[in-house]
Amino acid sequence: AAIVEHTFKVGGTNINQLCMNSVIYTANQELPGPTIEISEGDTLVIHAVNESPYPLSLHWHGVYQLRSGWNDGANKITQCPIQPYGGKFTYQFNVTGQEGTLWWHAHSSLLRATIYGALIIKPRKGPSGYPFPAPYEEIPILLGEWWNRNVDDVEHDGYLTGLGPQVSDAITINGMTGDQNSCKGSSMYEVEVEYGKTYLLRIINAAVNVELFFKVAGHTFTVVAADASYTKPYDTDVIVIAPGQTVDALMNTTAPAGRYYMAAHIFDSKTVSIPFDRSTATGVVKYKGVPDYAPAAMPALPRHDDVVTAGKFYWSLTGLARPTDPVVPTTVDHNMVVSFGLDQAPCAPDQTKCRGFALVAAMNRNTFQFPDKVSLLEALYKGVPGVYSEDFPDFPPPVPGFRKATAVKKVNYNDVVEVVLQSEEYSRALGTENHPIHLHGFDFFLLAQGLGRFNPAMKSRYNLVDPQVRNTVAVPAGGWAVIRFTANNPGMWFMHCHLDAHLPLGLAMVFEVLNGPAPNLLPPPRVDYPKCRR
Ligand code: C2O
Repeated sequence: AAIVEHTFKVGGTNINQLCMNSVIYTANQELPGPTIEISEGDTLVIHAVNESPYPLSLHWHGVYQLRSGWNDGANKITQCPIQPYGGKFTYQFNVTGQEGTLWWHAHSSLLRATIYGALIIKPRKGPSGYPFPAPYEEIPILLGEWWNRNVDDVEHDGYLTGLGPQVSDAITINGMTGDQNSCKGSSMYEVEVEYGKTYLLRIINAAVNVELFFKVAGHTFTVVAADASYTKPYDTDVIVIAPGQTVDALMNTTAPAGRYYMAAHIFDSKTVSIPFDRSTATGVVKYKGVPDYAPAAMPALPRHDDVVTAGKFYWSLTGLARPTDPVVPTTVDHNMVVSFGLDQAPCAPDQTKCRGFALVAAMNRNTFQFPDKVSLLEALYKGVPGVYSEDFPDFPPPVPGFRKATAVKKVNYNDVVEVVLQSEEYSRALGTENHPIHLHGFDFFLLAQGLGRFNPAMKSRYNLVDPQVRNTVAVPAGGWAVIRFTANNPGMWFMHCHLDAHLPLGLAMVFEVLNGPAPNLLPPPRVDYPKCRR
């Protein structure tokens, strides 16, 4: 196993997008940021230098961080931010026991709109280690969201209005909007392919607030992995992907030689009316030898609110479940129901642009509050009192109203936790929407999902044989999903909605996993571990 080292300098970058010049904050002047490629078993060392004016942390989304929780990068949960104007921190961790497509992103404020990249973990043996025929080439496809305004201003304004950030100005494919907007000469991602080959698309939804459909005209896919866990091959002409999720799909280039549009198109379970150019990004798959000016065919896109197509994709995947893969644990130590949603609240006095009401969110009626003096992990490790409470409820309390709290659920090392994630309609006026719930520190088995209210009779639907293994599940609007995982990793592990707009509203909770017996203890943090500034 190797040691792979990178330096990520986060700073301002000039960019021309949608016929406007702006300054955005990126890692190493790249959008998307640098691709990290390693082999399973390697150790990653990333020297982060924060030259931006904003506090920063970097999260390695989906990496277990086994006994290296100090490096998880969840702002205020596992570290305080790296200070602006020159702060530094070196992330160092080993990546063992997982392979496939993951990604990394800023985990402090809306910065993740422009600070993200692919994290690709190859099998130790190289391409012969894939449980499918080795592809001819691999193509990372990072789907993102673009705002014309400075994203920190967008976020601040979202707080002042109480309604969260405004809708983004464009969807992007590998940082580019494509040509379906009024700005002539917009940049468009294009990939050249050869006829008669198999390509592995590593698709990442790095968009901040939207689920997406992804299609390539004239081509179909075979899904072989999701969230860096192999799936049974699943044939489809559309990929559905929620923020935080990844999908690996094989694509055969057996269409007549030509140019074909790929498109990423907003999926929203609530009917929305976002204009086409703000909800659809295009790129091009071009066959070798075909001229650049040849017209391209557009794929037939599902309607924005096509919950049937989305549900079919999300619910059809199954895990590969090879004899060597972990099996679903059968005894459960903690049964939990975590219900969550959004509600209307009175405007706070400092929400000066707020009219009528502000949005607020909760899990089991706890509106998550970030600590400010010390990270939760440091508080756990050093026994700092008064930073968090261990009273996150196992079930939704029967009382109305929300409580603001930094509440964690404490479990012992190696306990098995089952959570029914129940999407709740707290407010008629707001209705419900899909919430992609992401768990740090673990993959979970996705045992079942459904519409409406979960009840114990639905346990008969659990797939205990070959469930999907994921780190992010798109819980259907007003519906439920059941996840199960083994808490085999000491630390403080965030579980939250990966629609970034919902994070500051409080749609989050934390699992506190106590140290196991040696050698499973969490070692101390590095000397450069960032301190909170008051
Ligand atoms: Cu991809 Cu807590 O995040």
